[in-house]
Amino acid sequence: MGHIPANFIDQLLAQIDIVEIIGNRISLRKAGSSYIALCPFHHEKTPSFHVNPVRQFYHCFGCKVAGNAINFIMAYDNLSFVEVVEELAKNQGLALPKTKQAVEKNQQWQQAYELLAQVARYYQRQLKRSNIAIDYLKSRGLNGEFAQRFGLGYAPAGNVLLNYKHYHSEQRDLLVQTGMLVQKEQGELYDRFRHRIMFPIYNRKGQVLGFGGRVLSSEQQPKYLNSPETMIFHKGQELYGYYQVRKYARPLEQILVVEGYLDVIALAQFGIDYAVATLGTALTKEHIGQLFRAVNRVIFCFDGDTAGQQAGWKALQLVLASLNDYREVKFLLLPEGEDPDSLVRKEQKQGFEQRIQHATVFSDFLLQQLSQQVNDSHLEGQSQLFNKALSLLQRLPNSVFRDKLLEKIEKKWGGIYHQQTVVTKPKIAATKATSVKPLSVVARAIGLLLQYPHMALLVKDTAFLVEIKIAGVAILAKLLDLLQSDPNLTTGSVLEYWRNHEQEKYLYKLACWNFEVTEQTCQSEFLATLDKIKQQWVQHRQDELLNRASSLSDAEKKELQYLLSQ
Ligand code: UTP
Ligand code: MN
Repeated sequence: MGHIPANFIDQLLAQIDIVEIIGNRISLRKAGSSYIALCPFHHEKTPSFHVNPVRQFYHCFGCKVAGNAINFIMAYDNLSFVEVVEELAKNQGLALPKTKQAVEKNQQWQQAYELLAQVARYYQRQLKRSNIAIDYLKSRGLNGEFAQRFGLGYAPAGNVLLNYKHYHSEQRDLLVQTGMLVQKEQGELYDRFRHRIMFPIYNRKGQVLGFGGRVLSSEQQPKYLNSPETMIFHKGQELYGYYQVRKYARPLEQILVVEGYLDVIALAQFGIDYAVATLGTALTKEHIGQLFRAVNRVIFCFDGDTAGQQAGWKALQLVLASLNDYREVKFLLLPEGEDPDSLVRKEQKQGFEQRIQHATVFSDFLLQQLSQQVNDSHLEGQSQLFNKALSLLQRLPNSVFRDKLLEKIEKKWGGIYHQQTVVTKPKIAATKATSVKPLSVVARAIGLLLQYPHMALLVKDTAFLVEIKIAGVAILAKLLDLLQSDPNLTTGSVLEYWRNHEQEKYLYKLACWNFEVTEQTCQSEFLATLDKIKQQWVQHRQDELLNRASSLSDAEKKELQYLLSQ
């Protein structure tokens, strides 16, 4: 649950309505006591996505996704749990409470941010004093304004941070924790960055999280050195230049994703102030989420070489799930031997933007890449491609865009299928009612309780559960306890208590299980199930005691008598 207290989440979920939350994002239709829609998470022609207002829970019978309002926003808006809670709390006018742990962690982070900001300023001052560093940047065609905008600096040769006299031991520890000082095997420390041009890496708020450092001459290796992953720096979540893009690009309509720090800076200097770069690591889902929260059009720019094409293909697969009718993705492959830095200097803003305008649209890139992967001059190749394309498209959410793309693919490679296109179109999880393993009684009790939480109040005696050592009983006991102490908890909200737990998935399965009961019959069914658990336990304990009847204590004898009388 991170550092947000559970009862705060309860309160939040009690204040919001899942129907409103989902209805604001997709169109819902009332059907009986629930609402239905075309599932936004897989392709379908008839609605199998259900939203239950009483349970505050959604469930797709097609692709099996399920959850509460928080899960929906996380999946649909591509946000993290904490981000969703923060946003919901803000909308509800609730202040997010902080646990002691969170406060302490926050303090440590603040100290790290401050320290790295100081270090960045120090490197900037050193740059002004170093002729070699200034000459290098000049030779790369960088002007002062943009060196400043991106906070460029110079880390002098030697252990300048290590030997700085005014740091006390806490700060030195923080320098180690943030990766600025590195520990040798013998325990000795040294400065990670020595004699390098320094590129501070900012988060979206402008706080320095780490650095990239470039050599000044090719004799030194490696060309770039980056801060390692630390408590405040996660490369999979940050994009170089994002802070500057948000600050300077007006209006911000699109973001160009390139590979190098210097590409970002050169582009900005030439008026293309909407470029960001990954941090020398692969693109992630979190990056994509961050990009689409800022703009609806993202252009991925890669070298034209094989590695570049591969990176493009990876980006395509990653971005699939986030596409809809409003979002646009393009791919810009550069001529071999060029990077954005070199090209924008040759072609200026206008020339480069023309390339962006004519960049390959998502669907063409998909088709291009697939054709390169498989020889489509013969039927086998074609059908292979067709199937490959379909399986990729299954990951696209429902949209007009998706349908158009399907059409295109069918025209291109679907020839042999034309008579039977209906069958070969993505048919998601034609849910087979195949050999489903029957549930244990405990699982049954848990599932019924998750679906009809008010039944917890029917259970007067939960003491016997403590004794029972059957798998899952601990969950049942916890569930009863939670629901009895707060009868307002819904299916959706009580499941929050198991977020990121080992059993989370299993509980979701039970929450969606079809027990074939109704509001009228659920109670008797539930009580009968509990009774069976009790019986099972009595039987088990009886056998156990009878087995060693000769060596029972007085208390155990009494217990056996009682059990036999039950
Ligand atoms: P490039 O080698 O394309 O460098 O690496 P560049 O950005 O164009 O820089 P110049 O023009 O040679 O100065 C692209 C990105 O890959 C990461 C860095 O993030 C760099 O910006 N990289 C590269 C590393 O992390 N380590 C390396 O040794 C090289
Ligand atoms: Mn370059």
